[in-house]
Amino acid sequence: MVSEESYIQQLFAERIGGKTFGKSTEIYKFEKIKRAKRAALAAHPDGELIDLGVGEPDEMAFPLSVRALGEEAAKPENRGYADNGGPEFRRAAVHWMERVFNVAGLNPDTEIIHSIGSKAALSILPAALINPGDVVLMTVPGYPVFGTHARWYGGEVFDLKLTEERDFLPDLNSIPKDVLTRAKVLVLNYPNNPTGASATTGFFERAVEFAKRNKLVVISDAAYAALVFHGKPLSILSVPGAKGVAIELHSMSKAFNMTGWRLGFVCGNPLLVAAYGSVKDNTDSGQFLAIQKACAATLAHPEITHKIAAKYSRRMDLLVACLRKFGFDARKPNGSFFLYVRAPKAASGRAFKSAEDVSQWLITEKLISTVPWDDAGAYLRLSVTFVAKNEADERRVVKEIENRLAGVKFEFS
Ligand SMILES: Cc1ncc(COP(=O)(O)O)c(C=O)c1O
Repeated sequence: MVSEESYIQQLFAERIGGKTFGKSTEIYKFEKIKRAKRAALAAHPDGELIDLGVGEPDEMAFPLSVRALGEEAAKPENRGYADNGGPEFRRAAVHWMERVFNVAGLNPDTEIIHSIGSKAALSILPAALINPGDVVLMTVPGYPVFGTHARWYGGEVFDLKLTEERDFLPDLNSIPKDVLTRAKVLVLNYPNNPTGASATTGFFERAVEFAKRNKLVVISDAAYAALVFHGKPLSILSVPGAKGVAIELHSMSKAFNMTGWRLGFVCGNPLLVAAYGSVKDNTDSGQFLAIQKACAATLAHPEITHKIAAKYSRRMDLLVACLRKFGFDARKPNGSFFLYVRAPKAASGRAFKSAEDVSQWLITEKLISTVPWDDAGAYLRLSVTFVAKNEADERRVVKEIENRLAGVKFEFS
């Protein structure tokens, strides 16, 4: 008997597949990784899966944040809708921007509004900026959320490839003139997911000048900005004139081990902040004030980020040294928790067609999970957020990676 299809199937918007929503047999990269992990664990039930694929911290928020949340959650005045408000978090964010990034003088009333995480802000902003036919300049490989929503509003995405030769910074002069005349927004993300690359002041200066000259908005996704291994973190807003063209998105997620708390902020150009606030007001009702206040208390402790960064730096050193022994051209980035390495072409005579192939092989044969990127060359992203109880355990995990790869002859050309 053929079961009758629900009329609901006919009602879906084209942007999510229309009538064919849910029927695609295409399996996306992250789903493939999940399936491969499940299969590998089923094949080796007693094996330890070493997960270098996760894109979030392995530890919980620091005790002072958790304590503050408990106290604030108990206060009746924090119970209601927060809307775009919460002066405590705005003020704390202004001080943090000055202390950590040397960005002074942000107005807490007009130049900063919280977000329910950077992802939420990236999904809200296209509604404020994108008309059908508008072009968004996005770096690839990268975090796709702004581009996905821009397309849903009828916008087009122009890919700016990030290559090793250019230190994973986009070539702004490579954009064709007809694309540039229709372009409205340039989305940047440094330190970068997945390449781990950092921007330089010079690059941000060029981006601001380029935006001004071509009448573009710059959206700087700074989700990893505070997580640097040496030197001072860099904000595009520290560049003269940046506030005329740019907004920056910050997040509690990575710099304070608070991914699940869902809090960040948008700051910079007041007109853009107001437009974000206007769409946000029609999208969500603000993050719980107890979370905002606990995060305000947390932002007064940048040393938390220093401790987290020191841990990633230490793990990065171990992993880089380990991979180099096997011929990987692993180079420690200056920020984020991502190590981005060129994928091998073969392992002990077995040829790989793509980074995805390598990643599948590593999970299946070695129980090591990574994230492959084939958008601009074949690369693997390894995250140092792997689970380890302490420093000795970190060394054990990396030694275990070395043991599992022992005897494999990788070929890179
Ligand atoms: C580049 C980038 N931007 C934004 C986000 C989202 O972060 P949040 O937790 O603040 O929504 C992530 C998360 O992985 C990311 O990698």
